[in-house]
Amino acid sequence: MSGEVGLRPARPADAPAIAGIHVETWRAAYAGIVPDAYLVAMTESKQTLQWNNTIRSAVAPEVVLVAESSDLPGGRVVGFGSCGRARKRRGTGEVFTLYVAPDWQGRGIGRRLLHGLLAKLKAGGLNEAQVWVLSDNPARFFYEAMGARRAAERRERFAGVHLDEAAYAWGDLAAWLAERAGEGPA
Ligand SMILES: CC(C)(COP(=O)(O)OP(=O)(O)OC[C@H]1O[C@@H](n2cnc3c(N)ncnc32)[C@H](O)[C@@H]1OP(=O)(O)O)[C@@H](O)C(=O)NCCC(=O)NCCS
Repeated sequence: MSGEVGLRPARPADAPAIAGIHVETWRAAYAGIVPDAYLVAMTESKQTLQWNNTIRSAVAPEVVLVAESSDLPGGRVVGFGSCGRARKRRGTGEVFTLYVAPDWQGRGIGRRLLHGLLAKLKAGGLNEAQVWVLSDNPARFFYEAMGARRAAERRERFAGVHLDEAAYAWGDLAAWLAERAGEGPA
């Protein structure tokens, strides 16, 4: 696990690899937060169908990006993220998902994926963005380290329980991208 990691837009053929990371990271990150029954019922085959649809239907500024390690011939997806227009806030972008496989976390891949997603939103004419994070998820510290500020809170009903969520926001993507010009996709 020492090779280069590159970023590129996802292709439908990436859906199974994305689904595998999605299920693995949900079970690792959300155990004790999301009900066990929901986590156990998640399957790679259902997630593969969903990701296949998402990748095929994405229209800019909506995008799915994958981080791919060159360690194996043909590459291996080790993280992914998706973004688009915020569902409830006109003119704002939203990071919908951002997941790095557990063995690959802490190596700067999340930072590069986030940079790639925010750059796509900016290129699509959006200069603000947000991400919703479960309040109990340590990922909130990642977004704080990435210069986002806590902007809102909400309580959502999910899988039969109430979950507290926090929104983290970037108010000026042009400035953020200019400050972090060296951190983006290789
Ligand atoms: C959150 C996540 C995407 C971050 O990706 P990553 O590749 O592990 O993070 P990076 O290595 O790029 O870290 C970038 C910076 O954020 C910091 N950081 C990352 N995760 C952190 C955490 N949990 N707590 C505190 N700081 C954190 C890193 O220390 C690093 O800081 P530095 O610039 O001072 O070195 C990844 O850990 C993950 O997929 N977690 C599980 C799933 C999840 O919760 N996803 C978010 C759903 S909204």
